[in-house]
Amino acid sequence: KVYSDYFFDEPAFNTHDGGYVPLEVAAAPARPLAIPPLLKPDKETATDLYYTVTAQAGETQILPGAKTKTWGYNASVLGQTIVFPVGKHIHVHLQNHLKELTTFHWHGLAVTGPYVDGGCHAPVYPGETSDIDFTLDQPAATTWLHAHPCPSTAEQVWHGLATLALVTDDHINSLPLPHDYGVNDIPLVLQDRRFHENNQWDYRADYDPDGVQGPTALINGTVNPYFDVTTQKLRLRILDGANRREWRLHFSDDLPFTQIAGDSSLLAHPVTLTHLMMTCAERAEVIVDFKDYKEGDTVTLFSDDVPIVSFRIHVFAPDDTTLPADLLDVQAPLPDPAMPVRKVVMSGMDEAVAIDGKKFNMQRIDATQQMGQAQYWDVTNTNTMHGGMVHPFHVHGTQFLVVSRNGHAPYPNETGFKDTVGVNPGETVRLLVRFDLPGVYMYHCHIIEHEDGGMMAQIQVIDPAEPNKTYKLMDMDTL
Ligand code: C2O
Ligand code: CU
Ligand code: CU
Repeated sequence: KVYSDYFFDEPAFNTHDGGYVPLEVAAAPARPLAIPPLLKPDKETATDLYYTVTAQAGETQILPGAKTKTWGYNASVLGQTIVFPVGKHIHVHLQNHLKELTTFHWHGLAVTGPYVDGGCHAPVYPGETSDIDFTLDQPAATTWLHAHPCPSTAEQVWHGLATLALVTDDHINSLPLPHDYGVNDIPLVLQDRRFHENNQWDYRADYDPDGVQGPTALINGTVNPYFDVTTQKLRLRILDGANRREWRLHFSDDLPFTQIAGDSSLLAHPVTLTHLMMTCAERAEVIVDFKDYKEGDTVTLFSDDVPIVSFRIHVFAPDDTTLPADLLDVQAPLPDPAMPVRKVVMSGMDEAVAIDGKKFNMQRIDATQQMGQAQYWDVTNTNTMHGGMVHPFHVHGTQFLVVSRNGHAPYPNETGFKDTVGVNPGETVRLLVRFDLPGVYMYHCHIIEHEDGGMMAQIQVIDPAEPNKTYKLMDMDTL
């Protein structure tokens, strides 16, 4: 079966938003797609792995002419790709070379909150450093690092503070997938920006409380990118790294592709699609098979009707590997039948956004859950189909399963673990959520301006061995 729709409710697509900024093809030459280099460890032993991650400001040649002032991790924009093998003891030395406070949030990693997790309670002040360490016990996944200081997450991500962090394990490494990073295993970080005078980005000028957008697609920081295809199959690790934009992806010729992974794990089974919609912060890994193309052909990836990446086909060796019918044995943690269902309500638009009728307060714990206990969360978007929007709901420190959408089966590409789920207007999405580590974790809409605008709350996960543990929480005034 080949699915050919976007699954989400069409009347809620961002194109209907009054403030929607359509993508346009930039009047700029085609350039090779930037492939972020893999971050070299400072040191590696059989058991431990050491990295340094530096948030820094720089300048990047994105368009012809003036360089753009940008921020990045170990790079002038975005960052180097970090690899975290499951089971290794990872040490990360965080350095802030910016002129303002930042935080280093590991979106999708199962690490303790609120400090290692790097949300707003873990500031690294300008010129300072911080050290974290953790050992991952989670499925292989494409996760990411981004800044998360409240309430300027959106602005810092807009400047470029976002990079990929690949969680690897023996299971994924044993599968017949493209594994050669930069050759047939390619990240695609999808973002959009407006270039102002002298090719500069101007967050304040473009500000919109429903999410900042720009007309120019920026893929791994490249405008009008092309990629030279030298293998029959490509694995694309796609991240919606935009502040606001949804991406509705499809190839020229409606070339089908196979999704193998979502945010936080492989899917249970591969799903073949011709169209894929991604909401902010979601990830998808897809395999594209160019068997019907030959040297000299070009295959184009579009979002809606705008080309965003060209794949230039070169000679390749035939590749007859097939994907296994089962990619991951997804074990659903069973909730205690006596456990009540947690209700979470996302409401409003613009400045009126809220969770459970409240704005975020850094000092308030909004909910608690016992460590290791699974619970259903019913997450409702009370926007109406008339001018309402899809709110991408994200939870820190967990990998959840999507159980149902308004009582119906979730979308066919939601069979794996996720950490972000797009909730349509008028919809209640039931999630199965379990936290395996104690701490304080944020949950929020991942339209980043909504999160900064208060559509965010936090939950304390209680370790039964330490039920009265408290955490030092920042507040806006101490920042
Ligand atoms: Cu992508 Cu609170 O995070
Ligand atoms: Cu997160
Ligand atoms: Cu939202």
